[in-house]
Amino acid sequence: MVRLSWLGHAAWQIEFSRCNVIIDPFLKGNPSASTSPEEVKSVDFVLVTHDHSDHLGDAVEIAKANKAKFVSIFETSNYARKGGLPDDMIIGMNIGSLNDFGAIRIGLVPAVHSGNPTGFIIKGDGKTIYHAGDTALFGDMKLIGDMYKPNVALLPIGGFFTMGPDEAVLAAKMIKADVTMPMHYNTFEAIKQDPERFARGLAGVTDVRILKPGESTEI
Ligand code: NI
Ligand code: MN
Repeated sequence: MVRLSWLGHAAWQIEFSRCNVIIDPFLKGNPSASTSPEEVKSVDFVLVTHDHSDHLGDAVEIAKANKAKFVSIFETSNYARKGGLPDDMIIGMNIGSLNDFGAIRIGLVPAVHSGNPTGFIIKGDGKTIYHAGDTALFGDMKLIGDMYKPNVALLPIGGFFTMGPDEAVLAAKMIKADVTMPMHYNTFEAIKQDPERFARGLAGVTDVRILKPGESTEI
């Protein structure tokens, strides 16, 4: 069983049987954050999809405090280096494949956004999770679905910076995860959305679970 907790915005904590992962931990200054960086404990990996401040957030500080590995695309990993994390705690990979880290495998996949954007595939305990990062709708989401067959897809629906609910419905149909959860909405006025609209568009296609920041679900 794998437990996923939404910490608000694009921040998620994923608990596998033998390791804990946090993704895009933007907590300080995040009006929707359900926790603070100081409260994040027992994390083994800190994953960052890209270097925008609402994703990089408190990642370096949390990695330091938890002696966790910082995982991102090479360019983003330089922030961890500049932040004083030792080299052996920094994993600057690139898009292309799944890589073995013992209890879990982690891979970067493309995202369509400004800067050096990525999504993550995380595999552990026989489950696969796709965190799309900040992205527009793009056709290779079908390829990501075909290749990795995610059990869970975490998709931005806020619009303005990413897909809105209508684009995200088509994305979810291409990815075909068992469970699909919206994120990156209602943090700020510019990304105000009704997640029920997203859920209605996916009735009978995938199990849409709408969490509130601080809530968890299991798969
Ligand atoms: Ni961004
Ligand atoms: Mn963002």
